[in-house]
Amino acid sequence: MPVYNLKINGTSYNIKAEQDTPLLWVLRDYLDMVGTKYGCGIGQCGACTVHVDGSATRSCLLQVSMVEDMEITTIEGLSKNTLHPVQEAWKEIDVPQCGYCQTGQIMSATAFLSQNKNPNKTEIRDAMSGNICRCASYNRIEKAVELAAS
Ligand code: FES
Repeated sequence: MPVYNLKINGTSYNIKAEQDTPLLWVLRDYLDMVGTKYGCGIGQCGACTVHVDGSATRSCLLQVSMVEDMEITTIEGLSKNTLHPVQEAWKEIDVPQCGYCQTGQIMSATAFLSQNKNPNKTEIRDAMSGNICRCASYNRIEKAVELAAS
């Protein structure tokens, strides 16, 4: 079985896996980084969102062989020893209900805000539209993104 060098949250890992193993499984099953969630497994829900070279990306669709030597950030590595400002805003607005989708939401929001520091409501809605929340926390997500940007 091939070995892939992955850079995750600033640490290098040598991962022995079949080339088509989804990054999501590597994170959750090989490395116990279970903050990244499995929702649909087909790129439709956003629960598995991580950053790859700074962009929000669905880890269920990425084969391990595609991300070698790229910078991968998961919710566990978003901020060291303190909450990221987006996480602070999530806490302030009390966004989660069941919480399952929220790490994916936060990873999408942080990647978006790093590209657009002063978004309007439409831009926030568009940017977050690919992340599904079954509890329909969309209004609070929008408010938290606005707060984080302010
Ligand atoms: Fe990857 Fe749903 S689990 S988009």
